[in-house]
Amino acid sequence: MRINIEHVGWGHLTYEIREIVTVAQELMNLGVAITWENIGDPILKGERIPRWIKDIIAQLVSQDKTYAYVATQGILETREFLAEQVNQRGGYQATADDIVFFNGLGDAVAKIFGFLKREARVIGPSPAYSTHSSAEAAHSGYDHLTYDLDPENKWMPDLEDLENKVKYNDSIAGLLLINPDNPTGAVYPRSVLEKMVDLARRYDIFLICDEIYANIVYNGVETLHLSEIIGEVPGMALQGISKEFPWPGSRCGWIEIFNQGTNSEFKRYVRSLINAKMLEVCSTSLPQYSIPLVMGDPRYQEHLNIRRKIFEYRANEAWEVFSKVEGINVVKPQGAFYMSVVFKDDILNEKQTLPIESPEVKEFVEKRVECVEADKRFVYYLLGATGICVVPLTGFCCTRKGFRVTLLETDDKKRKWTWETIAGCIEEYIASAW
Ligand SMILES: Cc1ncc(COP(=O)(O)O)c(C=O)c1O
Repeated sequence: MRINIEHVGWGHLTYEIREIVTVAQELMNLGVAITWENIGDPILKGERIPRWIKDIIAQLVSQDKTYAYVATQGILETREFLAEQVNQRGGYQATADDIVFFNGLGDAVAKIFGFLKREARVIGPSPAYSTHSSAEAAHSGYDHLTYDLDPENKWMPDLEDLENKVKYNDSIAGLLLINPDNPTGAVYPRSVLEKMVDLARRYDIFLICDEIYANIVYNGVETLHLSEIIGEVPGMALQGISKEFPWPGSRCGWIEIFNQGTNSEFKRYVRSLINAKMLEVCSTSLPQYSIPLVMGDPRYQEHLNIRRKIFEYRANEAWEVFSKVEGINVVKPQGAFYMSVVFKDDILNEKQTLPIESPEVKEFVEKRVECVEADKRFVYYLLGATGICVVPLTGFCCTRKGFRVTLLETDDKKRKWTWETIAGCIEEYIASAW
């Protein structure tokens, strides 16, 4: 090539949740039956969409308009409906102009970071949801900047660590939070959210709050939407239907934008996101048409309540199993559908193994574990020995060693088997060389 054609940040584009799939697939070729615990797709794990939601979508499919392009920012009626939902919460009062649709939040995140000035950094949580951390790192060409979530304190953000990092790094222009959080299942109370907003206000930075799991909160905890407490600080909340209808294949998500009128720089930045969307014409039409019909249906709240109860039951069930295991820490999830298991410091070493019967599989795993992080080593052994595919915590921009499981398996027997098998393997693995 006459000139180097590589983007400076491409090396930061990593997504362990999918990368582990390649390894699992190779093991499948060696005859291992895989239990997929890596990805947050409720449909893949057997969840069925209620009949009445399918009926609404089927009706829409029969209308020609749902096959057409729609407005770049999204269908006006749908944006008006969503703005009204924001307004009903109290707090920030939105209009349809404050809502912008994307082809899923994956697309929104790519644009949010892709159109941010290269030198402007956004600090995010560690462990991090990889789409955010990779996109931010790739945009800047440097490692993602993070603040700690503390497993000893229910995975709450370490606000002192956050403030120090913001204070002493004036390239930080934005603060990202995920509430409820992936991969920890943490839900932030009002006091924490208010402190984060206050910090953004004091340091003149904007907020990005990923709220894709906002309606999956359980175990009696309460939280708020960013719109309810943002006051006059510029910011945005990320929403979608992937996890909530749930319809991940719809590729439909949107951002709620707050206070674009009060800060001209922020307004121009928001304009750049909309212009970028304009080049693509628009986002997926059919799911946008479905949103007011589904979310505005009297059955929708009950649908959300049923799901909350299901995830609460599974969160407690998982916690019961893992909290009894020596050598790890687990925090009971309060939202979303994940739980992170953290190994106690220095408990892992390079001699620990799990028994693997098949010589080919054993050889494959032994080759794979050369020079990998200690938690990835456990994850590969677990995969080879049992076929259970979880994601190592170090894949979430995190130095703590552990892994993430999902609460998505709908088959009660299989779910229990999965957790009990993992729990047994943790004990066996630690004891194998201690
Ligand atoms: C926190 C968070 N944000 C965004 C997404 C992606 O959402 P979408 O399907 O809308 O791209 C996920 C998917 O797992 C997620 O966990």
